[in-house]
Amino acid sequence: MLGQHIVVLNSAVAATELLDQRGANYCDRPDFTLFEIMGWGRTLTFLKWGEQFKLHRKMFQSTFSRSNVGIFRPMQLQESRKAVRSLIKGAGSWRESTLLMTTSIIFRIAFGQDVPNESSPYCEMAKAASQATAAGGIAGTSLVDIFPPVRFVPGWINPSAALRHARVSRKAIQAVHDQPWDANMRAIEAGTASSSFMKIHWDRFVESAKAGRRPEANLEDIKGATGAAIIAGGNTTWATILSCMLFLTRHPEIQRAIQARLDMLLYPEGQARLPEFGDHCELKCLDDFIMETMRCLPLNPLNIPHKSLRDDVYRGMFIPAGTMVLTNTTAMATDAGTYKNPSVFDPSRYERGEPYPLGNFGFGRRKCPGNWLALASVYMFLATFLAAFELEQALDDEGKPKIPEPGVSVGLGGHPLPFECVLKVRSQEMARLLMEDA
Ligand code: HEM
Repeated sequence: MLGQHIVVLNSAVAATELLDQRGANYCDRPDFTLFEIMGWGRTLTFLKWGEQFKLHRKMFQSTFSRSNVGIFRPMQLQESRKAVRSLIKGAGSWRESTLLMTTSIIFRIAFGQDVPNESSPYCEMAKAASQATAAGGIAGTSLVDIFPPVRFVPGWINPSAALRHARVSRKAIQAVHDQPWDANMRAIEAGTASSSFMKIHWDRFVESAKAGRRPEANLEDIKGATGAAIIAGGNTTWATILSCMLFLTRHPEIQRAIQARLDMLLYPEGQARLPEFGDHCELKCLDDFIMETMRCLPLNPLNIPHKSLRDDVYRGMFIPAGTMVLTNTTAMATDAGTYKNPSVFDPSRYERGEPYPLGNFGFGRRKCPGNWLALASVYMFLATFLAAFELEQALDDEGKPKIPEPGVSVGLGGHPLPFECVLKVRSQEMARLLMEDA
């Protein structure tokens, strides 16, 4: 297309063989000029292969590995309980409460900053940055991505609405990098800062400087990577929770089955307790439900494009260096060779040995480094929510249930399309325990 080779991988086998097994060749990214103009120039998601990419990747992988993310669990538990408590109090909509929760989790992890309520300036800041980024459209496809010199065209003869948007958005994106950074730096200097991604890497920077070594990451790297965690990790987690709420509403029988399992764990010998991370291995049905949600509604249906570094031949087909490679998550998730009745929402398929969907978190050396962290947040919120609440279908004017239809918005980091549901407290005992836990 316009001189750019593009390959779309529709099968999990091809994606695994190319992007995982030959990952060293398929780990580059195309130019994301539009996002760079917006202010995401030091964001891992958009970095091309090279020394800076390797450094940022290492920073993320070391902080958010499967074994390391356990340190964030107490905070995720606390935020989940706080969110469900606010629903019990009827304070605001469930969408706003869950958005506040995911925003707070990611600001605490990235910058050590609490987001106590919706009037916190960080909420507005995160919203503005996410909206600006999502409105940038499908990554790598704007005029300025295809003809980068367009970026130098002055504003008054600018032919591209996307470029105008990128220039206007710069302020919002700068704010999300600078303001929480400055606040956390004041706390670090005062010795009151809690552990965070920024602090971990700042401490290493200071240590190297003290020892007279050249620090691996400079300040711009640390700031860019911390901002990247906000944009990559907040709304994606929220959107996944929204999808789960949609499928819980759509399938009351599946919701009841998870609740029945939860109740067996939470009322041992009549003595009620709140869900914890320790229940996870006993709650496979909840994991299966989350995975089935991700399979049936991938939020990034074509993922974020990779790019190849060298010429390659795959099953007799020549793939030139510089080819853009997209992975069709929807095609993989609905492959009739892998999934029986793929169009049916059926979490029990995993008990029968069907594999969890591949691709929702990407592939190879660009695979999402925040996946363990994100899944832990989604799990903990849902376990707490389902222990106390049930979701019912809203009724239309004639009293018929409105069954939510799965659909996803277009753009980087898609969201499920709006749907209606009704929340009802189902366990006064859990509600009481949650209120006492405050
Ligand atoms: C359920 C929530 C999430 C979903 C669905 C998701 C999905 C994705 C996807 C599809 C990619 C592209 C992978 C590829 O190109 O092959 C990605 C990349 C990335 N994600 Fe996530 N993500 C989530 C949560 C998070 C969290 C919590 C963080 C941060 C702590 C995070 C940080 C990143 C970063 C930094 C990248 C860029 C990696 C690179 O280009 O090397 N994500 N994510």
